[in-house]
Amino acid sequence: MKKNFYITTPIYYPSAAPHIGHLYTTVACDAIVRFKRMQGYNVMFLTGTDEHGQKIEQKAKEAGVTPKQYVDEIAEKFQKLWKYVNVDYDRFIRTTDDYHEQAVQNIYKTLLDKGYLYKSEYKGKYCTPCESFWTESQLDENGMCPECHREVKEATEEAYFFKLSAFSDKLEKLLTETDYVQPEWRAKELVNNFIKPGLEDVCVSRTSFTWGVKLPFDEKHIAYVWIDALSNYITALGYENGKFDDMKDFWPADVHMVAKDIMRFHALIWPAMLMALDLPLPKTLSVHGYINFNGVKMSKSIGNVVDPFVLGERYGVDTIRYHILREMPFGSDSDYSNEIMINRINSDLANDLGNLVSRTVAMVVKYFDGTLPSEREEGEFDADLKAMAEKLAPAVEKYIDETKLSLALTEIMTVVSRANKYIDETAPWILAKDPSKAARLASVLYNLLDTIRICAALLQPFMPAMMPKALEQIGAVAEDIEYGKLGKFGVLPENVTVKKGDVLFPRLDVDTEIEYLNSVIAPKKDGYKEDEDLDKANTINIDKFAEVKLRTAEVTTCEKVAKSKKLLKLQLDDGRGGRQIVSGIAQWYKPEELIGKKIIFVANLAPAKLCGEESQGMILCCDCGESVRVITVDAEVPNGSTVR
Ligand code: MSP
Repeated sequence: MKKNFYITTPIYYPSAAPHIGHLYTTVACDAIVRFKRMQGYNVMFLTGTDEHGQKIEQKAKEAGVTPKQYVDEIAEKFQKLWKYVNVDYDRFIRTTDDYHEQAVQNIYKTLLDKGYLYKSEYKGKYCTPCESFWTESQLDENGMCPECHREVKEATEEAYFFKLSAFSDKLEKLLTETDYVQPEWRAKELVNNFIKPGLEDVCVSRTSFTWGVKLPFDEKHIAYVWIDALSNYITALGYENGKFDDMKDFWPADVHMVAKDIMRFHALIWPAMLMALDLPLPKTLSVHGYINFNGVKMSKSIGNVVDPFVLGERYGVDTIRYHILREMPFGSDSDYSNEIMINRINSDLANDLGNLVSRTVAMVVKYFDGTLPSEREEGEFDADLKAMAEKLAPAVEKYIDETKLSLALTEIMTVVSRANKYIDETAPWILAKDPSKAARLASVLYNLLDTIRICAALLQPFMPAMMPKALEQIGAVAEDIEYGKLGKFGVLPENVTVKKGDVLFPRLDVDTEIEYLNSVIAPKKDGYKEDEDLDKANTINIDKFAEVKLRTAEVTTCEKVAKSKKLLKLQLDDGRGGRQIVSGIAQWYKPEELIGKKIIFVANLAPAKLCGEESQGMILCCDCGESVRVITVDAEVPNGSTVR
């Protein structure tokens, strides 16, 4: 009987084109799915797009199109990318699909009827010009509106809340007594950061925008993340809609794969919602880290967003799939850099794997005209190679089940390296010189071919375009790579015939490729271009600049602002009796690090209250992409000097 397996990616926001971060999660799921299918599982692989909300509404407005037109275009880009990189999903859900919207309405209704929703007031930071509410964590580094960088004020709005707090004990049990969140240390992080301090109920409706699902019992309210988004995992199976009938076969999900950014919602709100709906809980939430670019978070304005199409066109899709899956350590961040990628392609794929296949096939052609004879002679080194090859499939299976893909690949590549070493140890070119060693030579080449069979078959889920070619070259047919035969050695027919083919992974010239990649995806190039264009379009004259009064001061004391994770309160000696400035730099500085520093501040900015503290100006900082650094001046500059 076939076993069922259900795996999901997050549904991505179609607010910008997909990049290698989105690619990572989706390709990771695809590799798992292909492995499971190879094992005989009946798989449901779901991905999609999360299309509602204020941000999309705003972006569409800026682009002069309707929100639906806006999301249609980007959702198509996602689908095109998945096709291009051979992501073989079963279902693509869009939260604007009718069946999903209908089901979301039903889910809200059920939650209300069961007493898990209540109407109250949402308190937040409101930006009047943008007509938008923001949470504290969304504000910019100065505590201003993240869109227009103007002042925000405390405001309230009528909203529905989901009683997350009612599930606190059950969630703590889920996180401490089960394996739901992987890696385990992330579960501990959640308990300490969110459950222990006391779970707050979550706001699940808004009235300040219209692009979303209307609540059936109160139509001026729009479903606001996360109920709309999270329920995709069940509506796509037909929950509360007539479109599909797959809940019985595929719920609960086996794996939800997400990155750390949305772990909290999947580890707390999602299970609580399911508990409220009396549905079984998913088995695993697999949380991976971020792909950063040279240690810096990818961002459009820095211009370091890596476009998968650019890489795929130049190096082949499998190469990119392999590289990102191999580089991401389980649960932690991974760093993308052009250099690491080129070197990885050369070492693992061109030198180790590609070479093993081409050398072995070439030797079978050269010494036996492409078909091995039946005579065999066992020898030294055989047992070690065979034992490693036979243990490989169970080891890879275990890692796949634990979603540790990088380790699965490392395991396979270790056997590939072992096989290369076996060539050096057995020296077939020497055996070939002595006709009496033909049987030994045939054994050596057979052992190599059968090791390649196992490795290439296990690599197929990761590199579905190239591995069938490798298998064809060594003469393996479909029956030779059935899953049950991957843990056994000696499956290829004794008189196997190989077929010479193209080089699988050509060796890359490092300097040429780095130069090429730096010209197309190096940080800052495009970001600067955007900045430069904006600068040209927005020039000011010197008088305008002189309106901003900049002066120097020394930080005399500095402390955290209570109730805020972002704000620091600084007392300054400004040479004029002192002033207080509140600055959103707590993420980058400990208070004591700033004491004694000479800084530059805007002296004539209108005073503002941030988290109840008056700020009399603004400190100048550099935005370094990933971090923010305060601009400092020499110690001998007197406090209160004018900067111009
Ligand atoms: N729409 C929500 C998810 C709702 S799921 C019910 C959302 N969308 S998103 O477009 O922002 O996608 C976030 C996800 O994209 C991450 O969790 C991760 O899967 C992937 N990634 C985006 N950038 C990434 C990196 N730089 N590195 C790795 N994965 C990242 O959040």
